[in-house]
Amino acid sequence: MDLSTSMRTDMCGRLTTADIGRTITVCGWVDRRREHGEHLAFVDLRDHTGVLQCVIDGSRDLRSEYVARMTGVVRPRPEGTVNPDLATGEVEVDVASVEILSQAEPPPFPMDERTSVDETIRLRHRYVDLRKNRMQRNLRTRAVVNSTIRRAMEEQGFVEVETPMLIASTPEGARDFVVPSRKEPGSFYALPQSPQLFKQLCMVGGIDRYYQIARCLRDEDLRADRQFEFMQLDAEASFVNQEDVFEFISRAVADVVEAVAGERPAEFPRISWSDSMERFGNDKPDTRFGMELVELTAIFEGTGARVFQADCVKGICLAGGAESLSRNQIDSLVEDCKRWGAKGLAWMRVVADDNATATLDAGVAKFLSVEESAAVIEALDAVPGDMVFLVADTRRLVQRVLGMLRLALGRPAVDEGGLKFLWVVDFPLFDALGEDGSPIPAHHPFTMVHPDDMEKLDAGGEALLDVRSQSYDLVLNGWELGSGSVRIHRSDIQGRIFELLGIGAEEARAKFGFLLDAFRFGAPPHAGFAFGIDRLTALLLGEENIREVIAFPKTQSGADPLTNAPGPLDAGQLEELGLRVIPRAT
Ligand code: AMO
Ligand code: AMP
Repeated sequence: MDLSTSMRTDMCGRLTTADIGRTITVCGWVDRRREHGEHLAFVDLRDHTGVLQCVIDGSRDLRSEYVARMTGVVRPRPEGTVNPDLATGEVEVDVASVEILSQAEPPPFPMDERTSVDETIRLRHRYVDLRKNRMQRNLRTRAVVNSTIRRAMEEQGFVEVETPMLIASTPEGARDFVVPSRKEPGSFYALPQSPQLFKQLCMVGGIDRYYQIARCLRDEDLRADRQFEFMQLDAEASFVNQEDVFEFISRAVADVVEAVAGERPAEFPRISWSDSMERFGNDKPDTRFGMELVELTAIFEGTGARVFQADCVKGICLAGGAESLSRNQIDSLVEDCKRWGAKGLAWMRVVADDNATATLDAGVAKFLSVEESAAVIEALDAVPGDMVFLVADTRRLVQRVLGMLRLALGRPAVDEGGLKFLWVVDFPLFDALGEDGSPIPAHHPFTMVHPDDMEKLDAGGEALLDVRSQSYDLVLNGWELGSGSVRIHRSDIQGRIFELLGIGAEEARAKFGFLLDAFRFGAPPHAGFAFGIDRLTALLLGEENIREVIAFPKTQSGADPLTNAPGPLDAGQLEELGLRVIPRAT
């Protein structure tokens, strides 16, 4: 695109030998300066397209990060000074006039891409940090992600509808950020954890296919893939089922991958939630590598080995682990597993015996019968040189611990192993039973029951944990990218679910009355989905932390070192809002 303006004719990074002889004007920041003899200086001028070597009068006071406008003639660089690593490496500008547009203090950190800079300092001076290639690339890629999503959704008939930010609470399960009302002191708005209820109202309102690139706010502990504020592609459609949703969303995600990575991903495979738990130990499996959890329970039925007398025994095999892991590393893995809740971690080297047959060596192996050892080796497909790890406990715990051990031992770096998408389907409707025996919903309470499991709702107790829902997640390289569900649109089923969740009619009215009311006036069957744009962009760029794809993020502790948010309110504001601050007990 032509970016010339009344102030410049060209962009720094785009000048080539084809421009030799042209008189050009460029604007930008001084990237680097080198003196050349007494009278000349080389100045690399930088804009977002790249750097351009400019030869100026050495007496000009032009320092790092000064903003300048230069006019001159493009000429070939002298022999021996060509830089093949640089797009503009064959040319330079013989500058005739330099205009300093703005002076600059020395930058708060080195501007080269290699030096690693403390993140708080980067964020305090984010406007300087944004000038670097990495942030320029990340934000521009993010813009491509957004525009591609919009195009994909619109081509599929989705209509962008904006939903409010000052609302009553949304049931996504995190803490709300709240905003005090001045007009009604003592009353508060919540900021949306997602547009969930509004998009369902849009369905009742006949929008048919809704989407929004929506800002969501959740007060939760921050991690590499979590910020207080984040963006979702949020979508909902009427008269659709789960398959239709997969199609819309796959299309949008595939378009994004193609736009950013240049290649369209293969169709996303599917796995049921229960298979995912059995094979990978969690509901967002990283399928860039194998090392699956292997079922060994049957082998240890009636075993004499006390540690393996348990509901469930599973194992994983680390190829070559017998040699690659030091004793210290093994000890710390054992400690990790205990921290994750296991009673212990049984580890055994696979060695060749006198007959060159694989057998288990050392540690707990002595408790195993010859048959048990042989069966473990066979089940895990282990060969001499490997290391096998076994955990015995309740099924949930074995899955969880070995799932984490698998990641600790085998997970590739964020930018390795390609992009492995996966739909996880048939999530349970309930996560667990609460202390009062009522089930805790796995998703929000508007999630439709699996059609085959409707009767199981009446079973009550532990059996409720087997009830599946029509909810689904999209996973990419072990990150939960998005989730969605078919919604309940019938008030009788909704009432039944509220009842099971221990949400009384009154509480349901108080919290979701407007939605239940809406459903009384004709609700179409509907389903939807939302995926995290920060997460998708970070993974596409090989970034480990979503902060790297957000222009002005918060630190891990939730602060903004640039604006110093959060900060106190002054007495007048508190008064007006009818608030009093209770000093923190120290
Ligand atoms: P859910 O709560 O699973 O579903 O959120 C959907 C996706 O949003 C992203 N996400 C986050 N990204 C960054 N920081 C966070 N704190 C954060 N929390 C969530 C994730 C996640 O998969 N209304 C439902 C969707 C639906 O049912 O249609 C919802 O919000 O990528
Ligand atoms: P103990 O009998 O507790 O001394 O454990 C003997 C070995 O078995 C140690 O290496 C433990 O780490 C391991 N171990 C103990 N409990 C379990 C368990 N539930 N699952 C797997 N290994 C275990």
